[in-house]
Amino acid sequence: MLALFAVGAQVVKASSTLGAAPDSVFRIWRNRLRIEYEAAALFAQLGKELAQHYGKHDEVVRLCEGAEEEELSHAKMCIEIIKYSGEAPAFNYTRKKIQLGPENLTSEQKILYTSLALSCVTETLSTALLTEMQNAAEPGLIKDTVHQILRDEVKHSRIGWAELNRCHQNQNLTWVQPYIPLMLKEALQADIQPMLTRQEAKDDLSAWGILSPLDASLIMENTITQIISPGLQRYGLKI
Ligand SMILES: [Fe+2]
Ligand SMILES: [Fe+2]
Repeated sequence: MLALFAVGAQVVKASSTLGAAPDSVFRIWRNRLRIEYEAAALFAQLGKELAQHYGKHDEVVRLCEGAEEEELSHAKMCIEIIKYSGEAPAFNYTRKKIQLGPENLTSEQKILYTSLALSCVTETLSTALLTEMQNAAEPGLIKDTVHQILRDEVKHSRIGWAELNRCHQNQNLTWVQPYIPLMLKEALQADIQPMLTRQEAKDDLSAWGILSPLDASLIMENTITQIISPGLQRYGLKI
């Protein structure tokens, strides 16, 4: 943080505008902090399950372990932004055991379910949204943060596609098809969940790394059509 202040007047300018940001901005960044902790715990759990099947030196296991660390570094970055609200949340992560996917699935199926829902769907959508946020954000702390998170989310989305590719070689994937529409629905609802009042949704918050619900919704729909759907089709799955 101190280093950021030291690199130039432009950063100080962005940070000072962050101090003047409306409450809605910090509400969204607090929610992002919660999501980063959740993502870290999910990748940790996915890595553990994968290690039981493929061993701890497996490439996808190592990627999941890296993803947990990266999600936690995103959480720390969110905290630095939230500090401008006057509140200073403590870093508060506990690696809790999470049930991956519906209870009735086998452990192998839970791996594929989670790889699809968490990584192919959620992280791919996140990558598309962050790309747009990065373009719109004001230079400084927000843009730097979005840039760093984006760089990692691209990697996290690849984890799911890599695991889907492996599962495709080892098992029949038809069982997962009925779950896909719900995965997409949940991801869409989670991202556009109303966290802004009708008035706040009309404000242009893009300088602070927040897209309007309408823009976010359009970007996600395009990403599903242009990236996720063709990706799934390669493995005989459809949205
Ligand atoms: Fe993240
Ligand atoms: Fe991520």
